[in-house]
Amino acid sequence: MEITVQHTDKSRISEINFDKLEFGRVFSDHMLEMVYRDGKWSDPVIKPYGPISFEPSLHALHYGQSVFEGMKAYYSDENTINLFRLEDHHRRLNNSARRLSMPEISEEAFIRGLEELMKTDYKWVPKKYGHALYLRPFMFASEQYIAAKAAAEYRYYVITSPVAAYYSEGFNPVKLTTTENYVRAVRGGTGEAKAAGNYGGSFLPARNAQTKGYTQVLWLDAIEQKYVEEVGTMNIFFLIGDKLITPHLGGTVLPGITRRSVIAIAKEWGVEVEERRISIDEVFDAHKSGVLKEVFGAGTAAVISPVGLIHHKGDTITLNQNEIGPFAKKMFDRVTGIQYGKLEDKFGWTHPVAVGSEVLQ
Ligand code: COI
Repeated sequence: MEITVQHTDKSRISEINFDKLEFGRVFSDHMLEMVYRDGKWSDPVIKPYGPISFEPSLHALHYGQSVFEGMKAYYSDENTINLFRLEDHHRRLNNSARRLSMPEISEEAFIRGLEELMKTDYKWVPKKYGHALYLRPFMFASEQYIAAKAAAEYRYYVITSPVAAYYSEGFNPVKLTTTENYVRAVRGGTGEAKAAGNYGGSFLPARNAQTKGYTQVLWLDAIEQKYVEEVGTMNIFFLIGDKLITPHLGGTVLPGITRRSVIAIAKEWGVEVEERRISIDEVFDAHKSGVLKEVFGAGTAAVISPVGLIHHKGDTITLNQNEIGPFAKKMFDRVTGIQYGKLEDKFGWTHPVAVGSEVLQ
């Protein structure tokens, strides 16, 4: 496999205010592209970030064969950028692709492509602790053909965006509400895939929640509307007594990579972790009896995000006086410490990329 790099003539980096980053608004100088045609993927090409052009018959626009990943590159030191749990992201991308009847990509193309993109655009990785270069690998059906069946052509891209915190609250607690009117996923559907349509379908309920002052929807299961599933932009954890409880995956919950990392770290600390069904009533009852210590979300974009309030059917609980809980704080410090290369990586999760080759002046 050969990776071709076509450098931009003019970097846009001097136009970016790294002290005022909005999630996903600006993009680095380059992007990676691969084309799937006649049953095989081309080698990756890194080229200047810019428009891609298709006819209105682009298959993905009509039928939603489109999946993505969310990852981050962390500034470790002037010669090193850390990527995180690359093999897990690669596996999840291929699982999503399989569910949407799309072709898988090789681990070599995924990993070497990201490494090369980092070597090309490493100057875009923000230096400030807590900020990162968000990596968005995505794949879509690029055939110009509107028959309702799996396409024969696909594109895979990676674009990257320097980011600060995902929620406008920063690391401050977010407010969640359940909804009775909508569901996110049913078993056998696409809920456990990182399919573009899962997100599109959540925007109306999320907007309704936001007009009422909540940050996001806390999704319940689609059948009984009783069991907590996830937040759509992150997985969810409950610290009840001394146990850390998170909804089991069960086919409807996104298998979050930060979720897995939190579980591994908590177990290493000797905390009992339960992955099981947890009803919203159990959460509210635990709060009433005083044993619900903390609630927090976990995701690549959200990192560890404390939850300060949950609303469900007219009842509201406030958690930890709407302050960041000590467990969430300790978890945030440990996860980010590993990601930024400040703490020992006992688990072997970080993937350092040696940069500093002065590609961009
Ligand atoms: C991520 O955490 O990377 C995600 O994909 C969530 C998102 C939709 C921003």
